[in-house]
Amino acid sequence: MNPTLQLSVEPVDESVERAAAHAEIISDLFRDFVTALPGETVLRRDEPLSRRTTLRVGGPADIYVEPPSETALATVLELCALRGIPWFALGRGSNLLIRDGGIRGVVVSLAHSSFSRIVPAGDRLEVGAGARLKTLAVEARRLGLAGLEFLEGIPGSLGGALRMNAGAMGSWTFDVVERLRCMNRRGEVLDLPVAEVEVAYRSCPLLRSQLALGATIRGRPSPTDEVRACMDSYSRKRWESQPSQPSAGCTFKNPLPNLPAGRLIDELGLKGMRIGDAMVSEVHANFLVNVGQARASEVLTLIEHVRNKARQLRGVELETEVEILGED
Ligand code: EPU
Repeated sequence: MNPTLQLSVEPVDESVERAAAHAEIISDLFRDFVTALPGETVLRRDEPLSRRTTLRVGGPADIYVEPPSETALATVLELCALRGIPWFALGRGSNLLIRDGGIRGVVVSLAHSSFSRIVPAGDRLEVGAGARLKTLAVEARRLGLAGLEFLEGIPGSLGGALRMNAGAMGSWTFDVVERLRCMNRRGEVLDLPVAEVEVAYRSCPLLRSQLALGATIRGRPSPTDEVRACMDSYSRKRWESQPSQPSAGCTFKNPLPNLPAGRLIDELGLKGMRIGDAMVSEVHANFLVNVGQARASEVLTLIEHVRNKARQLRGVELETEVEILGED
């Protein structure tokens, strides 16, 4: 029998067909981007994301794009909508667990300098979503503005911090936000007073569907020495209580205000527990660290192990704080 004929009567695997159709749309979208976006745009196919997350795990993004302006960003979002391809906004990747198969779709990063401006005006700062939190805290200290010291040790960008209402040392990001600017899926810009934005512990629901562009941040005029002393004490506390190995920060939300996930996992005796190169930190039990070449699957297995133990032994349901994305 002719082997070619034999092949042609075999049932076609639907997932293979779907993948081929997806690859074709991605190629078309990539061509759209090349045509429509300005020359300074950073644009890549199959970009490995492990090097763009602090945990250092995760497969590739179909398309990775750094638009150089809000206009170019709007074009990216509009073209994604036209082709029906999802996009995801990547900040500094400090709260992300991307699965080993990577992200089917477009990863948009506001890493271009036009998105990281910090412009002071009295006791306020106009800050772009791409600005590093550490840079923002240091700038506030230079200007003698208190209230932003807690941002110093959070290893992310303002955009990511807004999206998840990141916090530390008893404060969270929206405590210091006066106005929020964001872009919707049609590329339209909204500028909202914070009173109109719903926020909760580690969550800002609006920013699940919209992309943060920046915020007006407000500080309290204070002597620079006092701001510096406060920031130094936070920094010391963090260095003493949190690990320096690659991680995505705290893995789980604290299940109750008086029950920190770190203490619970510590009490369960899980510090040092290891699956492949993913390990429950010996320093702070709510940090899962990458001690070598961990794969996302190892981190995910460790997460499930911790959740099972918390459920079985303490009746507590742990919810992840890290955002888990992508394909297995
Ligand atoms: N604890 C233990 N064992 C541990 C870790 C903590 O017993 O292994 C105890 C500590 O001794 C302390 C309590 O648990 O009594 C709380 O620990 P910590 O002060 O470190 O605060 P946390 O609630 O674990 C929160 C945020 C951190 C933030 C710190 C510092 C969450 C989930 N975490 O941690 O945020 O840096 O406060 O303010 O809300 C993050 O969001 O990624 C993150 C690291």
